Amino acid sequence: MTLTNGITLRSATDDDASAIQTLTATAFGARADEETRRRSLELFPQQEPLYARQDAIVAVDGARIVGHVKSRTMTLTVPGERTVDACGIAAVAVAPTHRRRGILRAMYTEQHRRTEADARPLTIFTASQGSIYGRFGYGPTVRENSVTIDRRFAEFLPSAPNPGGVELVDPGAVIEQVKTIYDRWRRCTPGVQVRPDASWGTLFADTPAIRSGGTELYAFLHPDGYALYRYHYREQGMQVEVVELTAVTTEAHAALWRTLLGLDLVKQVNATLSDNDPLPYLLTDPRLVRTEGRVDALWLRVMDVPAALSARAYQCDLDLVLAVTDPFRDAGGTFALIVRDGVAECAPTTRTPDVELGIDVLGSLYLGAYPARAFAAANRLQVKDPTHLHPLTEAFGTDRDAVLGWFF
Ligand SMILES: CC(C)(COP(=O)(O)OP(=O)(O)OC[C@H]1O[C@@H](n2cnc3c(N)ncnc32)[C@H](O)[C@@H]1OP(=O)(O)O)[C@@H](O)C(=O)NCCC(=O)NCCS
Repeated sequence: MTLTNGITLRSATDDDASAIQTLTATAFGARADEETRRRSLELFPQQEPLYARQDAIVAVDGARIVGHVKSRTMTLTVPGERTVDACGIAAVAVAPTHRRRGILRAMYTEQHRRTEADARPLTIFTASQGSIYGRFGYGPTVRENSVTIDRRFAEFLPSAPNPGGVELVDPGAVIEQVKTIYDRWRRCTPGVQVRPDASWGTLFADTPAIRSGGTELYAFLHPDGYALYRYHYREQGMQVEVVELTAVTTEAHAALWRTLLGLDLVKQVNATLSDNDPLPYLLTDPRLVRTEGRVDALWLRVMDVPAALSARAYQCDLDLVLAVTDPFRDAGGTFALIVRDGVAECAPTTRTPDVELGIDVLGSLYLGAYPARAFAAANRLQVKDPTHLHPLTEAFGTDRDAVLGWFF
């Protein structure tokens, strides 16, 4: 495929590997680390590459690779403990010598044409900038809070569960248990993706390149959860960085946090929490869990409105007609969404719309972390009858916060 400015798009081949590596390293300021890759392969010799080279799209100017996007199919949990196969997009990069000439738009057009041909109802990715992807029909859909806890003052309320059951373990010795717990958690948590061995390999490779100046990984294991963390020796005192804390049950959550906050010589614990993580409410002083940053962790685009909306469960019955606009592809239209006892049917209709919204807003609502009422207040979602807003907001909500399972 040739663009008007003489740039050509094609599928990548193995011969492009080194040029792609230079382009993506330049775009993101980081090169893939060979030691991590080697160690990962030692740990998981049967692993498949995270992304098949032939599924990547490159933009070529003469002999030079000036643009790149890669993708893989990811099985994503959606509200109601159901799963949807989504196209996960990564490593989107255009050479700084070729920016703002429409190369990203051209690569995205081709990528989404392929996703439609594969009949994937959703596309997802982690965005480096917030202002680019709305035009392509994406909305932020998972939120993360970076928190710090001054551990010295953290005390648990008398009512906080104290179930025990946590063991000090060597992370390398519990890889299989950790994988099993992740998978149990994945099945009940919206936003979490099936995790391939190549991702586990990078985590457990635990090479200096991925430690951000901290120690090697340490681990706590509970029958229903695990915590992987590092120590950082900083001028202000010893800190713990929680790399992953995964809990299938509230008991495992409380038990793991009690253990982490019991690390006597540590001054501060740094972690990432979803909006409604119960940690602050376990403590006598909820303010100790200080939010230092709040970011979107995952963006989502609905590729097929009826397939996507009938794939998830809802918190209450609904009978509404949604008019969805799609400025990028042809996925918009007018759809009746009827939910009875949590089971949804969604199909095109000629009925008059009750709700009007962009497909990017639908992407934000989809996993339940972003409420419809906030978009209505921002005039990005319009309801004909104001009494429809409350059921719409409630129906799309979830019992468990949406979370990004593994970064890609
Ligand atoms: C982001 C990046 C891929 C854009 O590539 P590009 O080829 O310059 O983008 P295009 O020229 O195709 O622009 C596509 C649209 O996005 C807009 N856009 C591009 N970069 C933008 C930015 N940084 N901020 C706001 N809008 C931007 C363009 O104005 C254009 O809008 P339009 O088509 O509606 O007129 C490129 O700058 C890059 O590689 N950045 C570093 C790596 C990165 O951030 N990758 C994204 C990872 S998710």
